[in-house]
Amino acid sequence: TIANMKGMTAGRLRIATVTTTKYFLPKLIGQFCQHYPGVDIRLEILNRERVMERLERNEDDVYIMGVPPDNPRIEAMPFLANSLLMIAALNHPLTKQKNIPFTRVAQEPFVFREPGSGTRLQIEKLFAERHQTPVIRLEMGSNEAIKQAVAGGLGLSILSSSTLIHEQKDNELAVLDVEGFPIKRSWYWVQHKNKNLPIIAQTFYQFLLANIDQFKV
Ligand code: PGA
Repeated sequence: TIANMKGMTAGRLRIATVTTTKYFLPKLIGQFCQHYPGVDIRLEILNRERVMERLERNEDDVYIMGVPPDNPRIEAMPFLANSLLMIAALNHPLTKQKNIPFTRVAQEPFVFREPGSGTRLQIEKLFAERHQTPVIRLEMGSNEAIKQAVAGGLGLSILSSSTLIHEQKDNELAVLDVEGFPIKRSWYWVQHKNKNLPIIAQTFYQFLLANIDQFKV
């Protein structure tokens, strides 16, 4: 029964994650702890570069990130869409256009995440693949601050769809219809292959799979 499971599931779970998961992971952990009050969760929220350092030092049980490392000793399981979207202020002239060429948006000024961020890594790859050089007007370590700067008309940005989970209908941002966008990616559950995870980590993984649909954008 649930009551028995509650009693049995206790212990500590260490998770390190990238900043962009703050739109769903803390809430999911909150729901998990309601079911399993005996659980003690330590959550580190950092950018990708810092999370990778923790992964290399094997400091946590589980890592949640958008760009898992290419390493045969690391296992990465996708569990939720994490598309990259191009956003603009609601009154930006490009919001009226369809299938905008990438070369056209590449002429606009951008607000980007900081180097070391997983989002930034992917954006740089994107521009390099298309032989374009972005004009970066502002660089910030906060998705929320970037959304505000874009709403204020500073430029366009490219962010994870997860950053829009809580946006209301009357928001001040528009998603642009750019050729090749949205860029399809996933969020990954990442762990060391040879590491014996505590039972509680397995329980959390099952809970995550069973409850993730509420965070689909
Ligand atoms: P970030 O990672 O929060 O470091 O940008 C996001 C991602 O990897 O998708």
